[in-house]
Amino acid sequence: PKVTYIEHDGRRFEVDLPEGWSLMQGALLNGVTGIEGECGGSCGCATCHLYVDEAFVDRLPEIAEAEDEMLDCTVAQREANSRLGCQIKMTPDLDGLVVRLPEEQS
Ligand code: FES
Repeated sequence: PKVTYIEHDGRRFEVDLPEGWSLMQGALLNGVTGIEGECGGSCGCATCHLYVDEAFVDRLPEIAEAEDEMLDCTVAQREANSRLGCQIKMTPDLDGLVVRLPEEQS
């Protein structure tokens, strides 16, 4: 499924991720610098914070408790469309997803 990452400075990365990959993995392996993923995807660092395009918010899995707690620890302001990139796995339903990255992660 295709994903567009938009960096804080406006640079866009359009990539095609294998199903099952997380948005965090996809960013790191495609040179997207706005995501750090320090904890390796175990919901323990909040450095994979991103903002999901409004059109896709309802298609995502619900925020689990661990993710919810970590989202309160992000460096950039938490918004209604904030999610952790490591907790969102690509599915065909998410094809065309657009996410924006905060200015800072840590
Ligand atoms: Fe650490 Fe997502 S990579 S919380």
